[in-house]
Amino acid sequence: MADPVQLLAERFRAAIDRTFPQAAGADPLITPCKSPEIGDFQSNAAMGLGKRVGKNPREVAAALVQAVDLAGLAEPLTDKSIAGPGFINIRLRPAALRDALSAMDTAGLGIETPADRRTVVVDLMGVNLAKQMHVGHLRSPVIGDCLARTFERLGHAVIRQNHVGDWGLPIAMVTRRIADQAARGVISLDSLTLDDLDAAYKTAQAECERDIAGLEAVKRYGLGPKALAELEEQVNGATESFTAARQTLVKLQAKDPAVYRVWQRIYDVTMKVCLDVCAALHVNCTAEANAGESSYADELAPMVDDLVARGVAVPDQGALIVRVDAPDKAADGTPMWEPIKEPCLVRKSDGGFLYATTDICAVRRRVQKLGAHEIVYAIDARQNLHIRQFAAAAIKAGYAIHPKTGRPARIAHAAFGAVLGEDGRPFKTRSGESVKLADLIAEMFARAANAVQTRSPELAGDDARRVAEAVGIAALKYGDLSTDRVKDYMFGFDRLLSFEGNTGPYLLYAFVRIRSIFRKAAERGVGDGWKAAPFACDLPAEKNLALALLRYPGAVRGVADTLEPHRLCQYLYDLAGVFSTFFDQCPVLAAETPAQRDGRLRLCDLAGRVLADGLGVLGIPTVERM
Ligand code: ARG
Repeated sequence: MADPVQLLAERFRAAIDRTFPQAAGADPLITPCKSPEIGDFQSNAAMGLGKRVGKNPREVAAALVQAVDLAGLAEPLTDKSIAGPGFINIRLRPAALRDALSAMDTAGLGIETPADRRTVVVDLMGVNLAKQMHVGHLRSPVIGDCLARTFERLGHAVIRQNHVGDWGLPIAMVTRRIADQAARGVISLDSLTLDDLDAAYKTAQAECERDIAGLEAVKRYGLGPKALAELEEQVNGATESFTAARQTLVKLQAKDPAVYRVWQRIYDVTMKVCLDVCAALHVNCTAEANAGESSYADELAPMVDDLVARGVAVPDQGALIVRVDAPDKAADGTPMWEPIKEPCLVRKSDGGFLYATTDICAVRRRVQKLGAHEIVYAIDARQNLHIRQFAAAAIKAGYAIHPKTGRPARIAHAAFGAVLGEDGRPFKTRSGESVKLADLIAEMFARAANAVQTRSPELAGDDARRVAEAVGIAALKYGDLSTDRVKDYMFGFDRLLSFEGNTGPYLLYAFVRIRSIFRKAAERGVGDGWKAAPFACDLPAEKNLALALLRYPGAVRGVADTLEPHRLCQYLYDLAGVFSTFFDQCPVLAAETPAQRDGRLRLCDLAGRVLADGLGVLGIPTVERM
């Protein structure tokens, strides 16, 4: 174990148990010091302990300072170590830092295989058939893939699921329209594009009347925008198109070959664009992740029957609902979900199933068949109520109870805000249309290529292309991941592409700078003796770099615990800053002695690997030079 926080916590815990047995087990509350002049770490335990044992916190701190044994780890504590109301400041010994760094200097960079290896399903992407992908579709794959990579990096088993919106009446409408046009020879199925489908989708929708009753139900049950959109499309008016769409749906459900072939074509055209976008962005989401709504279609009716048979779903004005306002209690008496007053609608009065029905079914498959201990949904913040509703219903139904642990899977919403233009309004083209995601990516890559050309004219051909791609991906993904995800963020090519400030290109560049130190070292004939040299940890800038490096495993774990990638971004940005100060203050190749040079080279190497590894967790590839 390399983490100084944990090492210090162990020593302090022992001291607390011995000195204040009445508060045995109390958390020593070790945190990094805010400013390095005061110390490296501090214990904030005395204040809470004082309350518990009825003593002045400074007295408690003095007793702890006497009792704690930090031999080999930190400088001895004295009364001067106590500050303010009872903070205890701790300074690590360089030798202890060196040991901790050596322990971290493995392939795993201090991230150990977890004792409780979990299966985590990450729900990402979730595009809808026949709809063009625009900038709004950027966030789910980028955030979802980063979270998936985080769990993978920590050693958990990850299953990505692309919950494609590929079923239901809206899809039948567009299928019917395309089948019609193909039959009349207006379009050819072979040369169909997603733009054609998008247009057909909109026309098909407009051909049908709105379902007033359905819309009222949506309002009554407080369902989210997806359900609203769905119901806006699921019309009840007996228009010709509507009737035809209904018939198409029936044929689709029966896998009628002619209709199914058209649907399959729509599916393939949509998925090609979707998976191409993923590949271009280095988002690890392939056809293997596809588990669309259609894959649940046959399971819905029997599932709802099961819910009714067990009294989980109950009739309400002709529809079937699951009430989730009074949570069931676990064996230990704790409520199994937060109460939600709006019930979860699982079957409409016309017999149709809903978005939520499919999502309950997906929880069942993910937990019961795939073995998920945890399901993470990378979905728009506006769908929060929907997620809480179906999660509660799935828990109530017992579907979310893990077959091995007997406990409900953790169902978490990694909610995100919107992508705004620089005017603070939804990101649009000048003429007010939404921007195709493929165009946006192409433009970012083109601008990245320009920037790389200007900065490094010596790069050419494949090298230049690879660097431009890495810079473009870094700009786009880091821009998306580095702000608190629930907030909206402003998209601006120039800002995201900047090589200065908290941006992806800046971090890539920080990594490249480190790599160039090693190229220069090789040119100057410095051998690789540094690999076995003791880390340089004596000067303040060296120590700060060492301390920053040691925080890496905690930073990755922090993302898994909070589902907040911006924490890792902030860590990497801080690390790059600390490295840059180190590099300014501590000559590496021009160090005073070969031993000092080697100790610093070893620090540089670890810093480079941590940066690359962290960028890898964010889903950003690195390059050796740029
Ligand atoms: N297709 C949905 C939409 O467009 C997103 C799917 C998200 N995943 C899920 N399991 N509901 O809003």
